Amino acid sequence: MPKPAAVFVCQSCGAKARQFFGRCPECGSWNSLVEQLQPATDGRRRRETPDPAQAPAARRSTAMASLDDQPLQRLQTGSEEFDRVLGGGLVPGSLVLVGGDPGIGKSTLLLQSASAMAHHSSVLYVSAEESAQQVKLRWQRLSETGESDLQLLAETDLELVLEELEALRPDVAIIDSIQALHDANLTSAPGSVGQVRECAAALQRLAKRQTTALMLVGHVTKEGMLAGPKVLEHLVDAVLTFEGDRFASHRLLRAVKNRFGATHELGLFEMQAQGLAEVGNPSELFLSDARASGVATIVACEGTRSLVVDLQALVNVTSYASPRRTATGIGTNRLHQILAVLEKHMGLPLSRFDCYLAVAGGLEVEEPAADLGVAAAVVASFRDLTLPAGTVLIGELGLGGQLRPVGQLELRLQEAARLGFQRAVVPRGSGLGGLAAGLDLALLEAESVTEALVLALGDAVNDQK
Ligand SMILES: Nc1ncnc2c1ncn2[C@@H]1O[C@H](COP(=O)(O)OP(=O)(O)OP(=O)(O)O)[C@@H](O)[C@H]1O
Ligand SMILES: [Mg+2]
Repeated sequence: MPKPAAVFVCQSCGAKARQFFGRCPECGSWNSLVEQLQPATDGRRRRETPDPAQAPAARRSTAMASLDDQPLQRLQTGSEEFDRVLGGGLVPGSLVLVGGDPGIGKSTLLLQSASAMAHHSSVLYVSAEESAQQVKLRWQRLSETGESDLQLLAETDLELVLEELEALRPDVAIIDSIQALHDANLTSAPGSVGQVRECAAALQRLAKRQTTALMLVGHVTKEGMLAGPKVLEHLVDAVLTFEGDRFASHRLLRAVKNRFGATHELGLFEMQAQGLAEVGNPSELFLSDARASGVATIVACEGTRSLVVDLQALVNVTSYASPRRTATGIGTNRLHQILAVLEKHMGLPLSRFDCYLAVAGGLEVEEPAADLGVAAAVVASFRDLTLPAGTVLIGELGLGGQLRPVGQLELRLQEAARLGFQRAVVPRGSGLGGLAAGLDLALLEAESVTEALVLALGDAVNDQK
């Protein structure tokens, strides 16, 4: 069979070149040439306007209502946390991309799941990064090796991987990693945009054809983005990121995209010598024991899960021309905005103070419902006050200093009550209705940030410094 020709295509102007150029000869843009395989045919031409005298072409579409109901038969991965992030289990024929920092535990997670799934399904583990012996050593460390039908292929050539997948027709295949595979028809190096795109597309076609669920490991760039073309994220059904603090043992698995479940769903694991263990009561990970000045507790929602999390702030007189603002786990722009609101509406001279903010346990909190907690931690540190134990703060801050209602308040309050919190400061008019009566939690409703902080910390928040 003749080899399909590869050409370099400019991603800016679409110009084609036979060789790689750092700069596109047509439009002059830098680093825009990506290697691509030419289609086998010239592509079919669109038909001319049909002749009304001719018989109409056969229909290929189907009425939606007439389609059979086929319930999704999800495969259980052997870990409740992993299943939850996938939306209840792995969907046959789906493509899941798992990305994460080097050494975070991607291979561990997938080998462990592969091993568990091999008890009820046929599973092929393709290791393109490590030798068969290395994978076997890890497998022996991680799981009950007993009687298992887990198949292993240590191979980097895409063609051979595809052949094996076709021959074996497994229910699940794991590719560790997509960046290490290479298509011999392309001249560019493994891991380049063209290689990743072609390899992923070929695997996807095969997976859909023979309903093999594919889990691909993906590398991330220095900035934390998934490496390779953006089209990879569009191509797959789910994108999961595996994160965690390099210095701590817990790991977070998050669904960034999921066609078969909720996004932002979160799974929690702890890295142990025998592999990843599930975390039973996750909120405990994010709560610190000591009540110190500058600590506030919020309830963050990650998908369908709510987590009670401590925030810690340190506010100090600055010795720099412009004060330092450092935030870990919360966007710095969000912190700037909250500091500006506090300065304007509570008259705190924060522009002369450095401000450091950290979320406990390495969690990333993106939602604005954490605003009130951030404000309380900052003000408590600034005034040297300690928030009373058993209080959670929930609310978004408007630029005018008002407190805005947040989503999923009921879920958040239930989690706080479950963990034994007694008071919750919430935005007024959250439409709680009879909810408060059902929960063992005192609700303190506030309209503005000042009112909320007085409720939480007392009148001392307004003392002049
Ligand atoms: N013998 C061991 N005992 C305990 N933990 C180990 C042991 N060997 C490895 N680990 C843990 O496993 C982690 C490495 O996991 P793994 O190789 O799955 O990561 P990865 O994300 O696949 O890395 P890479 O990007 O290099 O492929 C290490 O960070 C370490 O915490
Ligand atoms: Mg690995």
